[in-house]
Amino acid sequence: MSHGVTIAGTGSYLPEKILTNHDLSEFVETSDEWIVTRTGIKERRIAAEGENTSHLAAKASLQALEQSGIPAADIELIIVATITPDTFTPATACYVQEQIGASRAVAFDISAACSGFLYAMKIAKRLIESGAFANALIIGAEKLSAFVDWSDRSTCVLFGDGAGAAVLRPSAEGEGKIIATDIGTDGKQTSILSIPGGGSACPTTPQNVGESLATFSMSGREVFKHAVTRMKNSANSVIERAGLQPEDISLVIPHQANLRIIDAIADRLAVPNDRVFVNLHKYGNTSAAAIAIALDEAHREGKIQRGDKIVMVAFGAGLTWASAAIEW
Ligand code: ACO
Repeated sequence: MSHGVTIAGTGSYLPEKILTNHDLSEFVETSDEWIVTRTGIKERRIAAEGENTSHLAAKASLQALEQSGIPAADIELIIVATITPDTFTPATACYVQEQIGASRAVAFDISAACSGFLYAMKIAKRLIESGAFANALIIGAEKLSAFVDWSDRSTCVLFGDGAGAAVLRPSAEGEGKIIATDIGTDGKQTSILSIPGGGSACPTTPQNVGESLATFSMSGREVFKHAVTRMKNSANSVIERAGLQPEDISLVIPHQANLRIIDAIADRLAVPNDRVFVNLHKYGNTSAAAIAIALDEAHREGKIQRGDKIVMVAFGAGLTWASAAIEW
């Protein structure tokens, strides 16, 4: 008899190189004070040359596998959520499969920006519940530094590199499980946050190569407005379906884009700030990796205990949004 799907292990990896706000202020007109006040970010990690998204993903995955006690050879499904794949094709998940030695696994990528890890969680959960696969590895991994215009102060201060992973498997009786998930999309808002170039709509050519089209373009205020409403509604839908009251929730793990957005969400969900996990001061916005890294850190720091009810909520380019309510 099925008891749902549980998270058997988590892992994360952050590149060694730290880029502080002060470092940034040496090559764009900005200041630590502006960045901290507007976003809450103090520093971010930058992948080394030759350190690709798949390398970050593989390192996070090996940690998650070790914690789960499930060998790579027993993983049947790998989903990498990323908007900064090593290559357009093959999928980053294929490189990860090879690097971690999960040779039996079906491996593919999904693109849902910052909501990607929770999209992957929903897909993997459903595939496990259907009986198609037993053990799955879901990963959020990004090398956003490769797609940032380092001369544009309105975006370059926001992003960082990193990866997080989780191993999912069928839950045994008495174990925790993913209780409810929600994912959604609003394709009318594709223009407010995108990497407009480099794809088939606008391939990089010798003529446009200097125009930074394959870097982030964002209307920050528009994104901010949508983010708060969408995240609140999405989180509330899983909280309601899980039958939770605000006081039952021991930890909210929101997408790590901006401290002001996180505070606004906490306020609207009526969850006190000390039950909202924040690490964006260290890593900035790592898109699909952010919730995965935060989940692993919260877990390893002892902030998540057996039986705890946690809620994760994200939004990103698309626009996309996603939530999950979990009993650990
Ligand atoms: N340093 C100093 N000044 C700056 C900087 C900077 N790094 N960036 C912008 N400014 C200036 C602007 O030029 C502007 O100056 P002006 O008034 O003279 O024109 C002023 O600061 C205010 O700029 P705004 O963009 O209006 O600032 P705002 O308060 O909206 O903050 C921010 C900008 C932080 C981007 C905010 O809008 C935000 O966080 N939005 C949400 C963005 C987000 O979460 N995106 C991630 C989505 S994730 C994904 O899918 C990849």
